[in-house]
Amino acid sequence: ASVAADAVGEDGVRRRDFIEIAAVSAAGIGGLIMVYPLVSQMAPSADVLAESTTELDIGSIETGQAIKAVFRKQPVFIRRLTPEEIAAADAVSTDSLRDPQTLAERTQEGHEDVLVVMGVCTHLGCVPLGAAEGEDKGEFGGYFCPCHGSHYDTAARIRKGPAPTNLAVPEYTITDTTLVIG
Ligand code: FES
Repeated sequence: ASVAADAVGEDGVRRRDFIEIAAVSAAGIGGLIMVYPLVSQMAPSADVLAESTTELDIGSIETGQAIKAVFRKQPVFIRRLTPEEIAAADAVSTDSLRDPQTLAERTQEGHEDVLVVMGVCTHLGCVPLGAAEGEDKGEFGGYFCPCHGSHYDTAARIRKGPAPTNLAVPEYTITDTTLVIG
């Protein structure tokens, strides 16, 4: 009888070990499943990176209007800033910025009213809500990330929340009528 009891005891220990390991593994897999799409979005494959540029007719975008494009499978926000939005961005001291950049440094000469940024939050890669969507943009204007509350100003510079850097500006060339990203 005592041999049988020991065996049961050993089984019991092993079963607890197994349950603990299984629980840890399940949590690990859950974490991977949650993180993978974000990592995948932020790190496109070589095939995607080799894709051609994105060309847009932007001549008809009026002041205060915005469009969304897709570049290398990621969203791009293009907005023709209003004079008020430009003034708000220029009024911000770069000393107060986590990632100091002027609006002029984030746009191209002669086209300072056209803001072109990746629609990918620099925290964990969610798509921020853009000015085009008409939501309440709060004290900084600009863009708001619904995932963890990062708030970008009218020049898409990080002002509040966990995102470490401004929304990225992709490589692009611009004329009055055409924007070529990439
Ligand atoms: Fe945007 Fe976290 S992903 S705040």
